[in-house]
Amino acid sequence: MNRKNAEKSGAKTAVIGHPIAHSKSPLIHNYWLNHYNLPGHYEALDIPPENLKKDVDNLVNNGYCGFNVTVPHKISIMDLCYEIDEIASSIGAVNTVTIKDGKLYGANTDAYGFIENIKNHAKLYGFSWQLNDGPAVILGAGGAARAAVYGLLQEDVPEIILLNRSKERAENLALMDKRIKVIEWEKRADSLENANFLVNTTSLGMKGQPPLEIDLSRANPSITVHDIVYNPLHTQLLKNADKAHLRTITGIGMLLHQARPGFKLWNGVMPDVTAELEDLVLT
Ligand code: ATR
Repeated sequence: MNRKNAEKSGAKTAVIGHPIAHSKSPLIHNYWLNHYNLPGHYEALDIPPENLKKDVDNLVNNGYCGFNVTVPHKISIMDLCYEIDEIASSIGAVNTVTIKDGKLYGANTDAYGFIENIKNHAKLYGFSWQLNDGPAVILGAGGAARAAVYGLLQEDVPEIILLNRSKERAENLALMDKRIKVIEWEKRADSLENANFLVNTTSLGMKGQPPLEIDLSRANPSITVHDIVYNPLHTQLLKNADKAHLRTITGIGMLLHQARPGFKLWNGVMPDVTAELEDLVLT
């Protein structure tokens, strides 16, 4: 389908993953399509790894404009892309694909979503605090951590202290920039004394997972504590930070903001994150 036809009948878009039933992306994109009165279509497609190439070829042949990519395809989709933008290359994963003239163009919007959420939250709640006021402590070294580190480096954070259960994985991520220093997972409480920002990118604290154990009693009183886990929204880490009178940022905004650039690419409108959308996704 050419662009003119796509405009007439609306952009055909999707999220691909395996499993996919849990994905909030259809809820978000269909909310925006409805909100902006656009004729597009967004669905969740369960694609097992062995069918990736065949099923993606089908999307191309069926006139899809693009799709989001989630677990387990964020890395393997890169092999099918004709071009991968600089951000996705640096992060090492693609979560947003645009199809043009039968070719796949890969991007990564997770770092954008991560930073936009922090900035919006800080603005909304009138924080007298900036991301680059001092060192950031990042817990975790998976895909989410890579996006967070990339975003923080772009925001000129002076130093990133990285801690991960498996130190080797953290050391690998630290190759991204000289400003990243790896320390032992066991030293997480010590790392907070001079930190300006703490973010949990691990799955600890997520529903069904053990809580993240970290002693906040020696944390810099002006630190901001962010958990990218959004189920539950108020994780034990954020509850403990609240009790210690520290500023906190919840994780739901990252999910919502990372979806915006893809929607713009496919539908031509940069959508807003509203309280109504946030409530819809959280219920
Ligand atoms: P994502 O792409 O969402 O970041 P991931 O790549 O599976 O997911 O990364 C999960 C992160 O949570 C990793 O940093 C992982 O630590 P390891 O690299 O050592 O596996 C971390 N994590 C998961 N369970 C953990 C646990 N019980 N204790 C400490 N860290 C844990």
